[in-house]
Amino acid sequence: MTLLRIVLKGALVAGALLLFPGPDARAGDADAGAKVFKKCQACHSLKAGKRRTGPSLHGVYGRQAGTFVDSKGKTFRHSKDMKAAGEAGLVWSAEVLAAYIANPKPYIGAMIGKKKAKTKMVFPGLKKPADIENLVAFLEPFASGAQEGKR
Ligand code: HEC
Repeated sequence: MTLLRIVLKGALVAGALLLFPGPDARAGDADAGAKVFKKCQACHSLKAGKRRTGPSLHGVYGRQAGTFVDSKGKTFRHSKDMKAAGEAGLVWSAEVLAAYIANPKPYIGAMIGKKKAKTKMVFPGLKKPADIENLVAFLEPFASGAQEGKR
């Protein structure tokens, strides 16, 4: 490869990264993210150990996928596929949540060698990167366990 081609290729790669940045977990607007969370809150509480249709997202960062235990000590009935993803090494973090919520079932599927996982979360995902960034910014204090939600 000539030097010119190397430089051009580098510029192309940098351009592609600028055009399609991954969701940046720390660039979002938490107030806007609170609105996005309305899509989640019917099923997910931000109170510690509170179960709804889905597990609480309080303190979810650092938790192995599919291992939620509620405040009464009752293990959540996760799907086999969500548990398998956890056993395959899936641990929640801001980055993992951002990637998951863009495409929930295929993301879990990729962890366990299936095209699409069968999980119990009936939610198609968030398509707009800005929604994801804002949601992740809003969730940070709750998901890290620093703060508890009122509901
Ligand atoms: C209709 C109900 C519903 C909605 C809406 C929903 N979820 Fe879920 N979610 C669930 C259920 C049920 C599970 C458990 C899935 C399983 O075990 O297969 C889950 C699992 C999760 C998990 C994994 C938790 C763990 O402990 O492994 C995360 C993270 C999550 N949801 C985030 C979100 C976010 C963020 C939103 C909103 C953008 C959302 N969910 C919307 C029902 C829902």
